[in-house]
Amino acid sequence: MAGGGSIQAPRGTRDIFGDELERLERLERLCANTAKIWGYSGIRTPVFEHTGLFTRSIGEVTDIVEKEMFTIPRQTDKAGADSFTLRPENTAGVVRAYLEHNLHKTQGLTKLWYVGPQFRRERPQKGRLREFNQMGVEVLGLQKGDSQERRSPPIANLEVMLLATDILNRAGLKGRVVLGYNTVGCDQPGCRDRYREELKELLAKEEEKLCSDCRKRIERNVFRVLDCKKPNCRAVCEELLTWHSQERPEAFCEHCKAEIEFIKNRLDQFQEGYASARSWFLVRGLDYYTGAVFELSAQGLGAQDAVGGGGRYDGLIEELGGPSVGATGFALGLERILIAQQDAGVDAFEIPDVGPLVYVAPMLPPGPSSSDFFGYGTESQLQMADDAFRLTVILRRKGFRTEFDLLKHGRKIANSLRRASQLGARFAVIVGEMEAKQQEVKLKDMETREERRVKQADLAAEIWKDIG
Ligand code: HAM
Repeated sequence: MAGGGSIQAPRGTRDIFGDELERLERLERLCANTAKIWGYSGIRTPVFEHTGLFTRSIGEVTDIVEKEMFTIPRQTDKAGADSFTLRPENTAGVVRAYLEHNLHKTQGLTKLWYVGPQFRRERPQKGRLREFNQMGVEVLGLQKGDSQERRSPPIANLEVMLLATDILNRAGLKGRVVLGYNTVGCDQPGCRDRYREELKELLAKEEEKLCSDCRKRIERNVFRVLDCKKPNCRAVCEELLTWHSQERPEAFCEHCKAEIEFIKNRLDQFQEGYASARSWFLVRGLDYYTGAVFELSAQGLGAQDAVGGGGRYDGLIEELGGPSVGATGFALGLERILIAQQDAGVDAFEIPDVGPLVYVAPMLPPGPSSSDFFGYGTESQLQMADDAFRLTVILRRKGFRTEFDLLKHGRKIANSLRRASQLGARFAVIVGEMEAKQQEVKLKDMETREERRVKQADLAAEIWKDIG
């Protein structure tokens, strides 16, 4: 600001008013209601946090922490004072709140959504701001396990991917979104560690072709090289692609391979309004991820085409002093969705009502986690779990608030019904072995206590009939 002149908003920030504010508020309501339909409850965390929260969670050697944080320096004259940072993203704050309020002790699995401003000191351009709004969700408290068998397979990860696409579809972007997914490997011996060493070795041979940043990255955080947008670095990475896609997958651990295979198959099965593809160089700009990650891109945004991204992060809760449990989530950039809507000529979209609660319960035998049945169950258990999840997704896409327990199974029917009534469910849908074989379910009206068998294909219509 030059002395005497008028004061303008800082670069990379925007005033939002009139029609644009209206559109943003509608989009926020759409996000909120869709998250509720998918079984998430809301949280708001402070706009600034202790700087250490972000350096510990996002990673010291990331663009965000190295260059993009807005930090209010520590007041050196005050003993014990800390520096604060405007949040560059919301995952770290949500995990901190989850631990601070002991949600990990009081709730089995915690599913939260949020909306609000985030701050990154990036070079402003179309779709890239220094203050921008995100909507996001986090699923916290997933079984991490101490062995390959006990780690919970990726049903929660799939759920958040499908929720993100449901929001974008409802926002009028059907057919204009691509979901790219990849794995960054995990902490099991011989997975990500080995990947890192192999990449270092390969890239070191090409070092002179890389930019100066990437040369440093080889030692400090080699995965970031895959993400560099500079043409020479891209060319080196393209050369690696054949190796990467044809030989490297064999070197990921069994769990990571099974996880990405599961996600690929189910994304194809649930396809509605989006295309999906393995994106071999997707590494994400934050270091907390483990296993499967994803990004959503939309037409009409130019260089900044990512409207959202997320994935599984199994180390962060423990890193911030909590128990050894895993998590997954995503965030969507609201300004970028508004640009994509404009490009698609969308000016009206419906805000979904949050329909009555439906509780879907597959009658699986006791096990450490429901998701085990997606990877390791018998054929009929697998079918029950699959049917229950598929029906859950169908009901949610139709606007019914639907609960599907991602964590614990082995409930008896009576226990499931008790749980359904504790949650205030209007309907319970029981997927038993017999019913699954005949592509049916038991539908119980929790108000009238009436119960009947209905075809899975007619479930939503039957529920509408009962509501009248
Ligand atoms: P992210 O990929 O850094 O992930 O950001 C998510 C989305 O926020 C991006 O895809 C983009 O749409 C939007 N965004 C990011 N930076 C800007 C910017 N400078 N201007 C405008 N929009 C921007 C995260 O933030 C993770 N916390 C997501 C997550 C949640 N992972 C697990 N849980």
